[in-house]
Amino acid sequence: MKVTVDDDRCRGHGVCCSLCPEVFDIGDDGYAVVETPDVPVEFEDVVRSAAGMCPERAITVS
Ligand code: F3S
Repeated sequence: MKVTVDDDRCRGHGVCCSLCPEVFDIGDDGYAVVETPDVPVEFEDVVRSAAGMCPERAITVS
């Protein structure tokens, strides 16, 4: 599974990083950075949850 964050939509709410710091981080600019675009299988469920909970709908999984 792959995950991306749309930089144009992210507003730095940080839900993603709180849920799964193994995959998401907050960059120096205050917006999300995907540290692990190829999501390890053990984090797939939590990354899907993060995508569903991002207030800006900025996270896409494929
Ligand atoms: Fe950005 Fe959504 Fe995460 S707004 S910081 S991708 S929860």
